[in-house]
Amino acid sequence: MRVAARRMESGDLDQVTKIEAQSFDRPWTREMFRDELTQDLSWMEVAVEAGGRVLGFLIGRRYPDVWHVMDLAVSPGWRRRGVGGGLLSRFLGAADDSLVPVVLEVRQGNEEAAALYEGEGFVTVARRRGYYTDTGEDALVMTRPLRDGGAARAQQLSGPLLAIETSCDDTAAAVLAPAGDVLSSVVYSQDAIHERYGGVVPEVASRAHVERMTAVIREALREAGCLMGDVGGVAATVGPGLIGALLVGVQTAKTIAWSRRLPFFPVNHIHGHLAAVWLADRHAPFPMVTLVASGGHTVLVRVRDRTTYRLLGQTLDDAAGEAFDKGARLLGLGYPGGRELDELAEKGDPTAFSFPIGLKRSARPDFSFSGVKTALYYLLRSMGADERTRRAADIAASYREAIVAALIGKALRGAQQEKVRTLAMAGGVAANSLLRRRLAETGRASGFHVVIPSLAYCTDNAAMIGAAALRGPALSYPQYLDVDASASLPLGSWWTEASAGTEPQL
Ligand code: KG4
Ligand code: ZN
Repeated sequence: MRVAARRMESGDLDQVTKIEAQSFDRPWTREMFRDELTQDLSWMEVAVEAGGRVLGFLIGRRYPDVWHVMDLAVSPGWRRRGVGGGLLSRFLGAADDSLVPVVLEVRQGNEEAAALYEGEGFVTVARRRGYYTDTGEDALVMTRPLRDGGAARAQQLSGPLLAIETSCDDTAAAVLAPAGDVLSSVVYSQDAIHERYGGVVPEVASRAHVERMTAVIREALREAGCLMGDVGGVAATVGPGLIGALLVGVQTAKTIAWSRRLPFFPVNHIHGHLAAVWLADRHAPFPMVTLVASGGHTVLVRVRDRTTYRLLGQTLDDAAGEAFDKGARLLGLGYPGGRELDELAEKGDPTAFSFPIGLKRSARPDFSFSGVKTALYYLLRSMGADERTRRAADIAASYREAIVAALIGKALRGAQQEKVRTLAMAGGVAANSLLRRRLAETGRASGFHVVIPSLAYCTDNAAMIGAAALRGPALSYPQYLDVDASASLPLGSWWTEASAGTEPQL
């Protein structure tokens, strides 16, 4: 079962009012929810499972200098499973990014709610006597002070965060201080293992993760100067990616967390790539449009704040990294090939050949790289071996030019349409030298603040997973025991649950 959060819509109101009625003696009416939906200041989000069923919701108001939690309710069968905490941490993360404190009122007798808020750093500052007219109970007014730089998690963590990434062919671990500083980041690349097959073999990748995992974690702890006993929480990529590879990291992280009853932080791999941007530039202004281009994904995302993402467009066929890798293979270069093709292209003439730029004329911010790859295949087939060798640099340069032009064109247009302040890029393909140069030039010329992380944060790593974890939900023991890996976890989703046992009924 997949748990995700999204904006509340009027179509959710039947389920929302039902959960509300199951949660409170004096529930909000449907009209109150509907009215709230029309307010500019409202923050209304629902947590949903894959089938679309609403599991809980949070309603807040965003006044200019303080944000208010108005209503938070979770369906009875889903309580104490991290849904309320997840919705709350999104709201708090956004408040941190807006540099505002948060206040709320809670019924004095509602110990469960008070405990949830205390866990998130709220303190009781006042009491409103007889506030609840139905029972005459008092309301506790709780506030959570303004956070410095958004380190909202810091006080929940008793020590540094250990983050693990195994979604594809890199075994990675990192240690982050609770406030977000990266203390160590270790990546063991499996490239040498997969090279002989010309691509990542899932089963081989999983085995290599199992073999390397412990050593990589040990090295990350050693570089950070801490012991396993110091760790205060464990994060892992739970999807999307190769399922067998993901499972190694998820099981390792859950086992470490379980053994010491530490909180577990499930992380979406794409959220990790997006987080690499604020690891690189703490002060990059929101909202931003971020291009994530790697061997597995090519997506354009609107990032409203460190917790809220919206998919603008994605590749309809191959990922940009795949296009580079397949091109490199056709040209007889190394493995995986993106970097080798890039190096060769630096010596060639990008105007020598004309390759198609995918979806150039389409207004949609989507990508397509199958055409450019096919064009390369036919071009090489039309040449003799001599010519292919002689013109290799020109071919590589022209091919790279077409891929980069497609990426830049869509990213720039997306950023302009969304009227954001920052244009950013992440993922392994962001290592491409032409892409880096051109995004910086054209982005700045168009007035955007441009962020391009260092290479170590562009390719898969666990530091970015830790950075995303610090802005996502933390599940406490035993909430996370059911958390499962998911090969196809969509953007915006936090985790999936193993679908064993009976489903709670709403
Ligand atoms: O993010 P990443 O490390 O792993 C995935 O999640 O896929 O990205 C790896 C991809 C590979 O396709 C690799 O060839 C590509 O990034 N890549 C490059 C360059 N360096 C790595 N592509 C183009 N130019 C480069 N310099
Ligand atoms: Zn990746």
